[in-house]
Amino acid sequence: MVTLFPAQINDFPPENAFFSLLDICKTFRTKKTETAVLRGVNLSVREHEFVSIVGPSGCGKSTLLKIAGGIMSATSGSIRLKDETFFKYLPKEKLRDFGFVFQHDNLFAWRTCEKNLRLPLEVMKLKGPKWDARIYELLRLVGLEKYRTMYPHEMSGGMRQRASIARALVHNPSILILDQPFGALDAITRRILAFELLNIWKTTRKTILFVTNNVEEALLLSGRVCVLAHGHSGIFREIAVDIPEEERTPDLLGKDSFIRHVEELDGLLRSL
Ligand SMILES: Nc1ncnc2c1ncn2[C@@H]1O[C@H](COP(=O)(O)OP(=O)(O)OP(=O)(O)O)[C@@H](O)[C@H]1O
Ligand SMILES: [Mg+2]
Repeated sequence: MVTLFPAQINDFPPENAFFSLLDICKTFRTKKTETAVLRGVNLSVREHEFVSIVGPSGCGKSTLLKIAGGIMSATSGSIRLKDETFFKYLPKEKLRDFGFVFQHDNLFAWRTCEKNLRLPLEVMKLKGPKWDARIYELLRLVGLEKYRTMYPHEMSGGMRQRASIARALVHNPSILILDQPFGALDAITRRILAFELLNIWKTTRKTILFVTNNVEEALLLSGRVCVLAHGHSGIFREIAVDIPEEERTPDLLGKDSFIRHVEELDGLLRSL
């Protein structure tokens, strides 16, 4: 069901990828210290692919996502998006190609759920009936249409994260970037939202880069899991998850073979 590949094997070249990170290095410098966090990371993603990134705390997962989505510059390396290659960082106009969801929802407290979804459209000056319809379509997709007039403090943690996912998708980005989006939720809500995210992906077929510290979530949701490790050059290991879509149901979580793979990957992460 799950195949473990050695490090750095991609079965397709970056020029055929929808989105690629090429030899990305990132060093944080202060007057006194220099910390090399990413040392030559390569990652190529196909259009519509769901890729998870796992790795120990502090190994650079968020840093990599920020570089991927154009909100931080790399020290060296390139980012290839569709047919264009950019050195070190994506230009501002490419930010529209991305939607972000973080661990904490970042909703604006003074705006209702619906008006939070409207915000990116206002910033990007996307107006008109088509975009109004898109807000309702996304509220429906995440099951919040009845709660659209609620303020964030009136919503549960799960509802706020659903709203964040809808907000990240509202301007119709090509790539959805999620950085531990369920990290602040309780275990039961977390599982429910994982299946909802799977459903959102099946409906929208967005290309997804998903960081999680939960191995079960990574194996359940993605077609490929990339393992980052401290101080290692590049992706430490890539794992192809050959589970057919129709088998990715709550029943899968109780299957011996799935539990074994979760334990194996957990063991690998603990050893890093
Ligand atoms: N702006 C910054 N300035 C200096 N160092 C930074 C900065 N951002 C991140 N770092 C350092 O880079 C390293 C990687 O941080 P990062 O947040 O990418 O880790 P992570 O893998 O996302 O961890 P976690 O799983 O805990 O979220 C850490 O040592 C962190 O202290
Ligand atoms: Mg992080």
